[in-house]
Amino acid sequence: MDYKIIELNIEDMKKYAGIPISFTVETILVPVQIDKGVGGISFVEQAVSPYIKNYEEFGSGAENWHKRFDTSNWVRFAVIDKKGSFIGGATVAYKTDNVNMLEGRDDISVLWDLRVHPDHRGKGIGKSLISRVADWSKSKGCVMVKIETQNINSNACKFYSAMGCRLGGIKMHEYKEEGLESEVMLFWYLDL
Ligand SMILES: CC(C)(COP(=O)(O)OP(=O)(O)OC[C@H]1O[C@@H](n2cnc3c(N)ncnc32)[C@H](O)[C@@H]1OP(=O)(O)O)[C@@H](O)C(=O)NCCC(=O)NCCS
Repeated sequence: MDYKIIELNIEDMKKYAGIPISFTVETILVPVQIDKGVGGISFVEQAVSPYIKNYEEFGSGAENWHKRFDTSNWVRFAVIDKKGSFIGGATVAYKTDNVNMLEGRDDISVLWDLRVHPDHRGKGIGKSLISRVADWSKSKGCVMVKIETQNINSNACKFYSAMGCRLGGIKMHEYKEEGLESEVMLFWYLDL
């Protein structure tokens, strides 16, 4: 392993924010409802004209999360290579009043952010981060880690599935206010 994973302080989040999170959308997972969903939903992978998706455009930036939320119970991990460059990161939200995704529960954590530098994707770094996130969450007494992604991030869906996560929530029209009505919200759960 040519990298190490360290815990970060809020002051170091500027470096974390510098790790690109954007990716190219080449396929999307189209939900197909059987009998209007009563008979189940399956996802069919469909090619699209490629475009860049950047989550940073929709949030205030990793270095500012602590201004929007009380992050005193959160943990931030960074992956550092031999030269000291930041090549990956994961942030976990836990026990925070105004984070709806936590459902007011103290026994789940939320993978708030996960990113691997594009030059280093596909080398097992995401897997190492998930393992670290799972260990940390277990140490807090959590029974699962909850993760939000979208059907336009088919690579992340494949990644979460490969990590042993199960799809536990599908919301079809959740991103309308953000002008992203065609995107489907997906919740993945990693049982600990
Ligand atoms: C999703 C992401 C974090 C995965 O990290 P990664 O370091 O590239 O993933 P890993 O190399 O650890 O992959 C582990 C396993 O996941 C699966 N996987 C990962 N990327 C995949 C892809 N593009 N297509 C299919 N399967 C994939 C594979 O099974 C892989 O194991 P293998 O390499 O032995 O086949 C990374 O691609 C990324 O930063 N994407 C952009 C930001 C993003 O989408 N973040 C998540 C937001 S919800």
